[in-house]
Amino acid sequence: MLSAEAKKELQAALGKYHNKRSAVMEALRIAQRENGGHLTRQAMDEIASILEMRAVEVNAAAAFYTMYNIDKPVGRYHIQVCRNISCSLMGADHIIKHMEKVLGMKTGETTSDKKFTLSTVECLGSCGTAPMMQVNDDFHENLNEAKIDELLRNMK
Ligand code: FES
Repeated sequence: MLSAEAKKELQAALGKYHNKRSAVMEALRIAQRENGGHLTRQAMDEIASILEMRAVEVNAAAAFYTMYNIDKPVGRYHIQVCRNISCSLMGADHIIKHMEKVLGMKTGETTSDKKFTLSTVECLGSCGTAPMMQVNDDFHENLNEAKIDELLRNMK
């Protein structure tokens, strides 16, 4: 359920859009942030009601973008490694394998302490600095093993 604070934030955001349904991505962002990094069906239904959309439309928007996590909680640090063409050509597979080794888990898993979730995603629009990944809201680019090790050390 969206908090009064989240509803207030969403109402304020509506003024930026030509129509209510155009605010669906911002509404999902607000709901996900409030819920600690993932979306619940209940929150999406509530968004549908506020934006006067069908629940299936809100669900479709959330399911299309990898930045939204539906139903499944993620760790405090959600690591999303791009594995699309530019990143693949620049070594994304090696980056992913290194990450799995260092974190001791497979892609798609969350560490037992709920600190890290490792995912792979399609192009994040930073192809010129491949290989790259997104951790929560931040991009990390031109990755190599040393950079990853340092980033993970700083996250622990
Ligand atoms: S292919 Fe990785 S950011 Fe575009």
